[in-house]
Amino acid sequence: MSEWALITGASSGIGWELAKLFAADKFNLILVARNETRLNRLAAELHTQHGIEVQILTKDLATPTAPQELFDALRATPVSILVNNAGSGWHGAFAKTGLPQSLAIMHLNMDAPVQLTHLFVQPMLARRAGKILNVASTAAFQPGPMVNVYYASKAFAHSFSYALACELENSGVTVTTLCPGTTHTEFFARGNFGPVRAAFTMDAHTVAVAGYRGLMRGKRMVIPGVTNKIASALSRRLPVRWAAAIVRRLHRSVEPK
Ligand SMILES: NC(=O)c1ccc[n+]([C@@H]2O[C@H](COP(=O)([O-])OP(=O)(O)OC[C@H]3O[C@@H](n4cnc5c(N)ncnc54)[C@H](OP(=O)(O)O)[C@@H]3O)[C@@H](O)[C@H]2O)c1
Repeated sequence: MSEWALITGASSGIGWELAKLFAADKFNLILVARNETRLNRLAAELHTQHGIEVQILTKDLATPTAPQELFDALRATPVSILVNNAGSGWHGAFAKTGLPQSLAIMHLNMDAPVQLTHLFVQPMLARRAGKILNVASTAAFQPGPMVNVYYASKAFAHSFSYALACELENSGVTVTTLCPGTTHTEFFARGNFGPVRAAFTMDAHTVAVAGYRGLMRGKRMVIPGVTNKIASALSRRLPVRWAAAIVRRLHRSVEPK
């Protein structure tokens, strides 16, 4: 019997690329996002190319009931891999950003992965087998003035995910945290960032390959790319006021709407 992998945020970017990697290794897939047209296109492509089964579940994961609805819809499907990838950010001063905007980011980037993990880890633990990939960010390693709530949400994601990996040691279930740096996806256009002028930007496929390999090896943490590894290591060693000042400069250099 082929195994099932569930990927949130599979309709574009890193999630889309992860779906292609799982399909190439003959995993059946459950693809989750809001854009049904895109999910259908990807499902048809992967089914035709690899002969796998693909289920599509169209959900807004910023809605508090969505994770339980997802789990209920999949009671007959043994999910052996959970990928919490869906996420969004917003560039703008916190006080001038509408509170609903910030709360939606918190629901999507923190609440939904915690809910989905809590639901899907139970059957994994009962089988003593399973893998979880949580997509955080190098944003996790310092505060992010002007992208405040997003950076804070990724610090949460990283801490939650790494701590869970420690808790589940020797349980048969592994938890991997993927911390990409700036990656070419729709993330910045969706999040009011203006033109991205990062010194080093990776493509989504390369990031997905690093995350996929780390997941399959049961690694606790993956930071794709040498530049991201070095920048993250430096950032964690700098006094926090310096690290925050660097991010403040970085995000002042873009001109959002
Ligand atoms: N791009 C970067 O530089 C970067 C760096 C570090 C970390 N990351 C993280 O990587 C992950 C993937 O982002 P990406 O860069 O691939 O960006 P992306 O191309 O914008 O993809 C985001 C995915 O999340 C889904 N999504 C957004 N809001 C959703 C909602 N309310 N409910 C359900 N699904 C939702 C989107 O699908 P729908 O719109 O169809 O719902 C899409 O499939 C995110 O967690 C992001 O924080 C990105």
